[in-house]
Amino acid sequence: MKAKGFDIAIIGGGVIGLTLARALADRGATTAVVDAGPVLPQATHAAAGMLAPSFEYGEEFGGPAEAVYRLGALSLAMWKDYAAALEEETGVFVDYRGDGALGLSYRDAQTELLAEQAARVTSLGGAAEMISGDEARELEPALSADIVAALHAPKDTQVDPRRVMAALAASLEKRQVEIIKARVLSFGDGEASRQFVSVEGDAYEAETIVLAAGAVSGLTPMGLVYPVKGEATAIASEGVITRVVRAPGAYICPKAEGRLVIGATEEIGPLDHHSVSPAAIAGLRANAARAVPALEGAEELERWAGLRPGTPDGAPIMGQDEKGRFLALGHFRNGILHAPAAAQAMAALILGETPPIDLAPFSKSRFSSGRDG
Ligand code: GLY
Repeated sequence: MKAKGFDIAIIGGGVIGLTLARALADRGATTAVVDAGPVLPQATHAAAGMLAPSFEYGEEFGGPAEAVYRLGALSLAMWKDYAAALEEETGVFVDYRGDGALGLSYRDAQTELLAEQAARVTSLGGAAEMISGDEARELEPALSADIVAALHAPKDTQVDPRRVMAALAASLEKRQVEIIKARVLSFGDGEASRQFVSVEGDAYEAETIVLAAGAVSGLTPMGLVYPVKGEATAIASEGVITRVVRAPGAYICPKAEGRLVIGATEEIGPLDHHSVSPAAIAGLRANAARAVPALEGAEELERWAGLRPGTPDGAPIMGQDEKGRFLALGHFRNGILHAPAAAQAMAALILGETPPIDLAPFSKSRFSSGRDG
């Protein structure tokens, strides 16, 4: 059988794969994206789209939290122009908002944790301040009177991941990036390490292979990327909340056209990838309504589950493996945030240039000293 050939094949068509394909195409590289489609649960489709470096940089995992923060902060700074360029190029609205985020507290212990977080973010050069409950209600009048304090991160914000993906798809079509709908089954070995076959039995080969696949693709480095399921819901709510609100037990993300996303559970490694538990959704809704009572009883529009690509230390894997394949994986809770900066850095690495950020903290070899990667 003759294998279909590409210069660069990106395996995985989530936000990381598509932004990377766009960056490579902009640099003149002939690129194809190979993606299984919805047969595998997709993290990007499930994401709420928070751009939240001030809240999520994996400090609790003991990994390279500072590097993750800096990657997130850099990418957050890129998102405004990235969203505008995507919209201008494609005409697809991506719902980028520049209006900040609030992390809420009901009691002293929560306030202390948020204050520590604000101090950490500030020490890393970010924007974060503690404000009183009344000040939080000035920003968001629908917040509960029970809120005693909040972390205000004025630069954190959000996009709508599904709109971003529609825009990226249109952008890649213009750039003549080929999108191949196939589930990659396995790679060759030795001389054939740049060849791969799909579940459907098709054979491919590429000069350069990039793995941007998800947690249950079977293609990620063994044991280093694992599924962390998240369940979420969208309800009908127009104008009640205007910015991202992170309450204990639920985050609340107002989107365009009266859609408000409430997320998300976090469960490591379940086998029922697609199922959504009524109890989980009820819990998220109760936690959201505690913070914003006006959300109680709002009509449900949708509920869903997705699999985040988790890693042992909460940080992504970017670099190369021992077979010379490039890795752009494991962005866990932050794939949407990281995408523009990760794409820029990985495109430079793949094209043999020095990436604009140090990718060493994200190397696969951090998990196994003494090996390349
Ligand atoms: N970053 C939000 C989530 O993973 O649920």
